[in-house]
Formats: sequence, C-alpha cells, structure tokens
Amino acid sequence: MEQYPILSVDNIFYRYDLRDEKYVLSDTSFDVMRGQWLAIVGGNGSGKSTLARLIVGLASPESGSIQFNQEEVNEQNKQRLREKIGIVFQNPDNQFIGTTVQDDVAFGLENLNIQYPEMKQRVFTALKQVGMYELRDKDPSQLSGGQKQRVAIASVLALKPELVIFDEAFIMLDPKSRRELLKLLKSLQKQNHLTIISITHDYNETVLADQVMVLNDGRVVDQGSVRAVYNRNKDLEPPFAEQFRRELMRKGFSIPDHYMSNDELVAWLCK
Ligand SMILES: Nc1ncnc2c1ncn2[C@@H]1O[C@H](COP(=O)(O)OP(=O)(O)O)[C@@H](O)[C@H]1O
Ligand SMILES: [Mg+2]
Repeated sequence: MEQYPILSVDNIFYRYDLRDEKYVLSDTSFDVMRGQWLAIVGGNGSGKSTLARLIVGLASPESGSIQFNQEEVNEQNKQRLREKIGIVFQNPDNQFIGTTVQDDVAFGLENLNIQYPEMKQRVFTALKQVGMYELRDKDPSQLSGGQKQRVAIASVLALKPELVIFDEAFIMLDPKSRRELLKLLKSLQKQNHLTIISITHDYNETVLADQVMVLNDGRVVDQGSVRAVYNRNKDLEPPFAEQFRRELMRKGFSIPDHYMSNDELVAWLCK
C-alpha cells in the first residue's frame, strides 16, 4: 500500500485570544502516515488538547494549515472530514445521550444511515472489544468513570473512523483495562489499518506507538521512534522497562547504554 500522510499539520499558530502575546501552539508541524500510531507527549499546558481540537475542526489555526487525506480542512468541508475522525476526551461525563449503554453506542451510527443489522453488529462488536458487552443494558450514568470511558471508546470505534484521537482517554482506566485497550488498539491498527493519535502524559502508554512526538510549550521539540525519542531526551520520564534499565546502569550493572523495550530487557535479564 502506498504510504502517504493521512494528516499533515503545517506551521500552525494558535492562541485562544488574539490579544494574547503568547501562542498556545507556535509553528507546529508534523505528519501522521496512514496506519501509523503517533503518541503525543508533553506536560500540562503544552498544547496537546488544543492541537486535538484543531485537528477535529473544533477551532481553526490562525495561520498554517491542517490537511486530512491531502485535503485542507476548512469551514466548508470540516463536517464531512469530521466523520472520518473519531476523538475521545479525558472526561467522558458529557459524552452520553442514550438511556442504555448500547443505545448510546448506537446513537452515533444513526446519523450515518447504517442499516439496522449492521448497526447492531457494530454496537455489539465495539462493546465486546472494550469489555462492556455484559453491561449493554445499563444506564450509562450509573457506570464508574472507567466504564464510562470504555463506552465512549466503543462509541468511537463503532463509527469505524480512519483516524482516532485519544486525548488522555485512558487515565480513568485501571491498569489491566488500560493494558487490554492499548493491545486492542494495536490489533485494530494492524488489522484495519486504523491511524491512531494517543495523547498522554503516561509514558508507559507510548510503548506500542510507532512514533512519539514531544510537545513543549506549544512547540514540537522532538519526534521519532519510541527508542530514538527516549534515547535523545534523558529528561523525559521513560516507560517502565527503560526506567528499570537506567536504574540497573546506575547500580553499576553492565547493561547496554541505550533504550530497551520490555522484551529486550527481559531477554537481557534472562541471559
Ligand atoms: N478554552 C481556553 N481558553 C483559553 N486558554 C485556554 C483554553 N484551553 C486551554 N487554554 C490554555 O492553552 C494552553 C494549552 O492548554 P491545553 O491545550 O489544554 O494543554 P494540555 O492538553 O497539553 O494540557 C494552556 O496554557 C491553557 O491554559
Ligand atoms: Mg489536555
């Protein structure tokens, strides 16, 4: 399959108020290839959520451009392009409309003119994928935070978007659900060629990504493979295995002096 960017962000500048001297996003540029998983990391206030809002057309950059499928996002086409992009925010509370979990997931599909049998199948599949199928007849307002978040994720997956953005969407989940969801996303990426942008400040969430982009104060300060980014940026808090490797190195073990994934660390320890 030919590789081309599904998303191209070019030199965008953005501030919430034109009177502000400081931009929230300054000269931000990056590409995401179709079928790729990009993790965006950066501290609080670095502009991650603002960037997500611009990508889905909830706000427009002051200058620069955003292209989706090689088409510049503008006022005229943003509604149409929006249908191909799913987004899950951090707080699922305002995202519910249905009176049951399954109605809620079905709701988004009703606007897409999908026949009932397919709709039902998509709803059930998505609920099974996120582990919420058993609770499909529950009232969403009575779910826990993590369960609500899983329903919100199911609602987006059921739409079969080309690109899905998770803005700190896994924070509410317990570690096991989180791991399972990340694995599910990896398999959807591989099987359905889904493009993923995951925004996080939990560096453990970046390990399955193909690329990591570091945002600092509205600027892209680095982008590369997980390995390259954590090798270059020793001030970033790395994923668990890499933390452990650095600790072993500090203790004087003759461990390789470069980033190690979980598997690499395990292989080294078992030698
Ligand atoms: N609705 C808003 N109005 C004005 N300023 C905002 C708004 N939302 C965010 N900001 C400001 O923009 C900057 C980036 O915020 P945000 O994109 O939410 O960062 P992040 O998601 O990385 O924590 C922060 O300085 C924040 O205070
Ligand atoms: Mg945010």
